[in-house]
Order: sequence, then structure tokens, then C-alpha cells
Amino acid sequence: MMAWMIPHFRIERLDEVDSTNSYARALAEAGAPDGTVVVAERQTAGRGRLGREWHSSGDFGLWFSLLLRPEFEPQFAGMLGIAAGVAVVQSMRSLVGARAVLKWPNDVLIDGRKVCGILSEGRTVGQKLEWAVIGVGINVTAPEGGFPPELENVATSLAQHCAADIGAPAPDKEALLDSVLSQFGARYAMLSSGNVRAVRDEAEELMRSFLNRRVTIRGQSGTMEVRTLDLSEDGALLVELDGGEVAKITAADVSIGTRACARGELDA
Ligand code: BTN
Repeated sequence: MMAWMIPHFRIERLDEVDSTNSYARALAEAGAPDGTVVVAERQTAGRGRLGREWHSSGDFGLWFSLLLRPEFEPQFAGMLGIAAGVAVVQSMRSLVGARAVLKWPNDVLIDGRKVCGILSEGRTVGQKLEWAVIGVGINVTAPEGGFPPELENVATSLAQHCAADIGAPAPDKEALLDSVLSQFGARYAMLSSGNVRAVRDEAEELMRSFLNRRVTIRGQSGTMEVRTLDLSEDGALLVELDGGEVAKITAADVSIGTRACARGELDA
């Protein structure tokens, strides 16, 4: 078997862009290589999942997108966003001891509030994943004037955690980016060498507080109350329906009580 190396990332830095994901998608279509990273200080039209806006018009966060050209089967594409979530959680834990956890598929929460969101997009042609763009948005500090009212109770920043728990400022964005890229690179190498299980197991461990819970799932076929079980081999969420039947969720809105939503999907 070919030995997979941790990729070398080539970073393109922008002061302002509409969305690093849109920019990276254009680079992908123009043939840019695996490992291209686009980082922007500000986004004028940052995108979240489900067509939502991602609040990133200032330099209070780390906004970047990774362009990847994975060699593995498209079936495992969903693991890329999960690997990015794992990389963010492990970085926050190791850099500042944050109590960061993962919520399926790849939201990062501290004390129940969202500190990072991930938007995965891609193009599959036949049986090949042509490219994937994994966009990562981390609230490093709170925006000037605070989060807008609709996010006030669901969002947090790494700085808020650092101030409250370790009495120190948040790590600088460069250190955070370095760490997330190196943590992600290690998991990407695992996925590329066929060791999907190790990444899945690690993600499941970081999602433990979200598993075995009653949640509400909103999908195309309506809303369901289910109990979360665990992750499938390809990163889908396994849930138990009321009749005891087990279902596999690949793309849905999931909410625990009134907390923030998540959706797992790789959509072009
Ligand atoms: C979510 O809804 O939770 C996903 C948010 C993803 C935001 C990041 S910021 C960098 C990249 N560029 C975008 O336009 N979105 C992603």
C-alpha cells in the first residue's frame, strides 16, 4: 500500500473576500492542487449550512477553506468535515485546555455554545470525488459590540472561554491555524490510507456528550424525535426511532433542546 504523507498546505491569504469557500471552489474548478488553503481576514458574504449567513464581516475570527482532492471513495467524503471538526476540537483542547466537544456532524461547542462551524462542499464525477472544499469558521473573539441578538444565546468565542477559565487571551490566529492544519493533516493522511475507522472512533469519542440523547431531527421527510446512537463507518449518524428501528442519517438538521443546529452533507 502506498504510504500517505501529511499534505503540505499552500496558504493563500486575502484581506477580504465574499466567502473563502466560494473562492476555493473557483480555485478547484481552475485546477488548484490538493492542500490549497484560503484564509481571509473578513468575509462579506460568509456562508453557513442550509443557506444561512455566517457572521464573519470582521477580523474577530479565523475564516478559512481547505481545497482537497481526496483519492478515497466518495462514500467517505462526509468524513472530511468530521476530520476538520476533530482537528478544531483537539487544537482548542491542546492549545488552551478548552472543554470543546463535537456535535454531529461537525459543529464545535464549548459549554453548549457554538464556537466553530464547518461547511463542506464538493463535486463528484461518476465514482470520483473531484474536489472537496472544507470551510472552517472559528469565533476567536466576540465581534465588536457582541454577537447579534439571534446568536447571543447560541454562539461563543474562544476568547470568552480563555478569559473565564484560564485568565489568558485566546491564542493568536496564526497559532490556531497552524495547529488546526497540522491536526487535520494527520487525520487526512489516515483517511487517505484507508484508516477511516481511527478517525471515526476519535470523532465518536469527542461527540460522546451528544450520543444517547433524545434529539429532534428535521429532514426532507419531516421532523422526528429520535435517540442518537453512534457514528456509522462513513460518519453518518445512527439513530433509534420510536419503534426501536435503527436509521442512518446523512443529512439533517439536528437540535438538542433549543440549542444550535447541525447538518451533515457534502453538497455541490
Ligand atoms: C455552519 O453553518 O455551521 C458552517 C459555517 C462555516 C463558516 C466558514 S467561514 C470560512 C468558510 N467560508 C464560508 O463562507 N463559510 C465557511
